[in-house]
Amino acid sequence: MVYLLGIESSCDETAAAVAAFDGERKTVLADVVASQVDIHKKYGGVVPEIASRAHTEALTRITKQALAESGIALSQLTAVAVTNTPGLIGALLTGVNFAKSLAFANALPLVPVDHIKAHIAAAYYAFPDLKPPFLALTVSGGHTSLMKVDSFTDFVTVGCTRDDAAGEAFDKVGRVMGLPYPGGKEMDRLAAIGDPHAFPFPSAAVAGDNLDFSFSGVKTAVINTLNTMSQKGIPFPTADIAASFTNTFTRSIVKKLDMAFDRYPLDTLVVSGGVAANSHLRRAVKELCDRKGIRLCMPPIALCGDNGAMVCSQGYYEYRTGKRGDTSLNAFANDEF
Ligand code: KG4
Ligand code: ZN
Repeated sequence: MVYLLGIESSCDETAAAVAAFDGERKTVLADVVASQVDIHKKYGGVVPEIASRAHTEALTRITKQALAESGIALSQLTAVAVTNTPGLIGALLTGVNFAKSLAFANALPLVPVDHIKAHIAAAYYAFPDLKPPFLALTVSGGHTSLMKVDSFTDFVTVGCTRDDAAGEAFDKVGRVMGLPYPGGKEMDRLAAIGDPHAFPFPSAAVAGDNLDFSFSGVKTAVINTLNTMSQKGIPFPTADIAASFTNTFTRSIVKKLDMAFDRYPLDTLVVSGGVAANSHLRRAVKELCDRKGIRLCMPPIALCGDNGAMVCSQGYYEYRTGKRGDTSLNAFANDEF
C-alpha cells in the first residue's frame, strides 16, 4: 500500500490530502481545502502577495488536519507530493518549501507534481478503469488547455488559450456585472434563467485549423456592452449576459473538441479544472460525446476545483515512475508545456 500526502498552494486554495493507493485502487482518506476566497473578495481577484501569506499561515494547520482525519501517521506515509508548477510563483513556493521541510525532516521521498496534470488525474478517483490514452480538456481560473494524455505521465498539449484563461473570463465578466467573486459559479446559475441568444458575442474558438482558444475578444465584447449600458443608464440584464457569454463559451469549447476528436482517433475525454463545474459546459460536452460515441469522464464537482487529492493522484503515478525532488526543488510559474 502506498500512502501519499498531497500539498496544493498554486493559487488561492491551500489544500492537503492523504490518499491510499493499492495497485490501481485509489482511496481518498482525507481532503482538506482552506479557501482564501473571502480574503480576496474585497479586491475582486487574487492578490498574489496576500495569497502567499495566507498559504503560509494555513499550511501547517490543514496538513495536521488532513493527517488526523486520515488516521495515517506521518511515519506511515510513503511520500509527500507537492504542486510545483504552474501557478503564482510566491504561492507555489510556500507549498514547495513546506513539503520539502516535511519530507526531508521525516526522511520521506518528495514528488513534484504539475497542477494541470493533477486536475486531470482527479478523474481517476471517479473512474477507476480510466486509462490513457485519452484527450483532456482542463479549464480553470488560470489555465485552458487541451492535451493528449499518452500515458499516466506523458502529456502533449494540442491546444490552449492564446490569452485569458476560461475561468478568468468568467470572473472578469462577473466582476463588471457586480457579481460576488469569483463570478463563475453565479454566472452558471444566472445563465440557466437567461436567453443564450440575447447577445451575439464573438467566438472564443480561434479560426483555422488549430485547437486554440482566445477568451480576451469575447470578454472585451461583453465588457464593452456592459459599459455602453452603464453610460446610458440601462440596468444590466445579468441573466441574458451570463447566458449569452456561457453559450459562446460552450459552443467554442465544443467546436474545438469536435475538431480534436476528428484529428486524434481517441475514444475518451476527461474534462477537469474549476470551470468543469459549469453545468452548461457539462451538458454541452456530454451531448458532443454522445453524438460522437466518446466516453466522457468528468471528476465530481468537489474534485474540479483545486484540492490536495488530485495532487496525490498524479503524485502516485509520478512516484511510480521514479520522479523525485531534492532539497533544490524549485517552483515555476509556467509549466513545460
Ligand atoms: O481550478 P480552480 O479552482 O483554480 C485554478 O487552478 O485556477 O478554478 C477556479 C475557477 C474560477 O475562475 C471560478 O470562477 C471557476 O473556476 N468556476 C466556475 C464554476 N465554478 C468555478 N466557472 C464557471 N462555472 C462554474 N460553475
Ligand atoms: Zn487549478
